[in-house]
Amino acid sequence: MAETYNRIDGNKAEQYQHLYEQIELLLTHETNTIANLANITALLKEQFGWLWIGFYLVDELAGNLVLGPFQGPLACTRIAYGKGVCGTAWALGETQVVADVATFPGHIACSGLSQSEIVVPIKNNGKVVAVLDIDSEHLASFDEQDKRWLEKVADLIKW
Ligand code: SME
Repeated sequence: MAETYNRIDGNKAEQYQHLYEQIELLLTHETNTIANLANITALLKEQFGWLWIGFYLVDELAGNLVLGPFQGPLACTRIAYGKGVCGTAWALGETQVVADVATFPGHIACSGLSQSEIVVPIKNNGKVVAVLDIDSEHLASFDEQDKRWLEKVADLIKW
C-alpha cells in the first residue's frame, strides 16, 4: 500500500467507506498485528482527527489490559478487568458508546479533555483479545453509525 493516506471529505458513511477500504488494503499487505494496529490508529487519526485513538491489548498473564499502539496524548498503561470504559467493554464483550464520560461510573480519565468515548472489543474465536478505544474532545461524538463501522474494522483484524 502507498504510505500516504488522502483523507476525504464527505458524510460519515462516505468517510468510513473510504477508510475501511484503505484498512482492508493495508491488512492484505502486512500480517504483523502490531504494525497493522499502529497504522489503523494513524488512518483513523488522519481521517477523523479525534483526540485519542488506540488499542489496549489483553495481557493474559497480568490479567489486565496493557496499552498498545495509539495516536494522541500520553495514556494510562494498564486497565483492570471490568474497570473504566475499556475494562467494561472487555468484560461484557460489547461495544460501549459513551456520550458523556462524566456520567459513566468508573470512567478512567487519561486526559481531562476527553468528553465522549467509544470502545470496541476485538475478538479472536469469540474471545476478547484487545479493545479499540477512541476519545473525543466533544460531547456525543459517537453514534450507532460509528459503532457499526468500527465493529466492521474490528472484524478485519486478525490475531
Ligand atoms: N477512558 C478509558 C481509559 C483509557 S483512555 O481514554 C486513553 C476508560 O475509562 O477505560
